[in-house]
Amino acid sequence: MTRTLITHGLVITAADELHADVLIENGRVAALATPGSQQWDADHVIDASDKYVIPGGVDGHTHMEMPFGGTYASDTFETGTQAAAWGGTTTVIDFAIQSKGGSLRQGLDAWHEKANGRCAIDYGFHMIMSDVNESSLKEMDRLVEEGLTSFKLFCAYPDVFYSDDGQILRAMQRAAGNGGLVMTHAENGLAIDVLVEQALARGETDPRYHGEVRKALLEAEATHRVIRLAQVAGAPVYVVHVSAQEAVAEIARARDDGLPVYGETCPQYLFLSTDNLAEPNFEGAKYVCSTPLRPREHQAALWKSLRTNDLQVVSTDHCPFCFKGQKELGRGDFSKIPNGMPGVENRMDLLHQAVVEGHLTRRRWIELACAAPARMFGLYPRKGTIAPGSDADLVIYDPAATQTLSASTHHMNVDYSPYEGKKITGAVHTVLSRGIPVITNHTYTGHPGHGAYLPRGLTQYPG
Ligand code: URP
Ligand code: ZN
Ligand code: ZN
Repeated sequence: MTRTLITHGLVITAADELHADVLIENGRVAALATPGSQQWDADHVIDASDKYVIPGGVDGHTHMEMPFGGTYASDTFETGTQAAAWGGTTTVIDFAIQSKGGSLRQGLDAWHEKANGRCAIDYGFHMIMSDVNESSLKEMDRLVEEGLTSFKLFCAYPDVFYSDDGQILRAMQRAAGNGGLVMTHAENGLAIDVLVEQALARGETDPRYHGEVRKALLEAEATHRVIRLAQVAGAPVYVVHVSAQEAVAEIARARDDGLPVYGETCPQYLFLSTDNLAEPNFEGAKYVCSTPLRPREHQAALWKSLRTNDLQVVSTDHCPFCFKGQKELGRGDFSKIPNGMPGVENRMDLLHQAVVEGHLTRRRWIELACAAPARMFGLYPRKGTIAPGSDADLVIYDPAATQTLSASTHHMNVDYSPYEGKKITGAVHTVLSRGIPVITNHTYTGHPGHGAYLPRGLTQYPG
């Protein structure tokens, strides 16, 4: 039996903050006790004085090696999960993709093939459904039984991932029956494509027009629509990457009416804006993602929704493309810029910065980044908290350290940082994944293949 003891840290979970020693046995949290009160023998002792001991981050939305716009997201499962560990995230849930004409099983097998033996931290999969039909609807039941319990449906990207309202309704009806969770990319893709065509015809080709054609109203409209479809189906719905204040309002209204409607936003929408999309010399392409960055004024509504629990989760939607050779595919036509941004390494730090700046409390930071995604995606309390029996996925976080985010120091396989030069108070010091150090005193000590696939349970809905 291997025993590790973490002493004298401030243990922060979504529920509590207390000074405690944490005993780990065989990869799990065994006990917590008042500092120094227990004479535990241990093989390894980590002194966490003046530091936080927090649950490892759970990033419920990543896209490693995702095929998109004629290229692939530049992080593999090996590089992306290593970068996640550097940033204090110990679980990622990535999106396997059903191809048009293919089965869910084929998509899942392909994602297992990419990830198996390569991950530094534990991982699970959601399933993107690109082809809702009788056969794929039936497959949903089997996948839920096997522990793949969430399915993403797109109102956006006609001819790629798009599903029409009837298909989305059918998937929601199926999920209502089998307990799965439907996640939606809520933007009216058909209307957006009309506006893209018109913008390009006017010669509006720069990255900033990506933000202009993907209108907040078209995010709000699709958000309203998927909420009503879910209501008709009698199913919960989880809206991914919410960026527009009008979409937040739709979710808040539905929740006020007692509907089981949930949502996430991402750091890019909280810290960046259309000002970045308008950066000259095509630099705005670095910030092209969908839903798009919004004018700065939307940020207040997003922060508020995170405090009031109208949005419950902050994930990254990590989907990096290098500026050179990938984002550049869209020079002269913004619609050809691959959609997506890096962030898996930065989420925990950016949200700590939000604590420092007074947007969130420390416990809310842990709720949004660890506990709520673990509950939403059927991993709690194994992941997302520090309690006897939980996996010892723990981060020793130094709240007083300072760092400057930069492509020259980050570990994501991408040639720019959207947060280049941003100063952060707080830094990851040490990270344990199931009790094994993957970051030790700011040094990577993990290895590919340590990370295990996580079959998941059903969503634990609050209340
Ligand atoms: O721009 C984005 N978000 N790229 C990844 C695919 C998606 O829609 O999540
Ligand atoms: Zn999406
Ligand atoms: Zn995504």
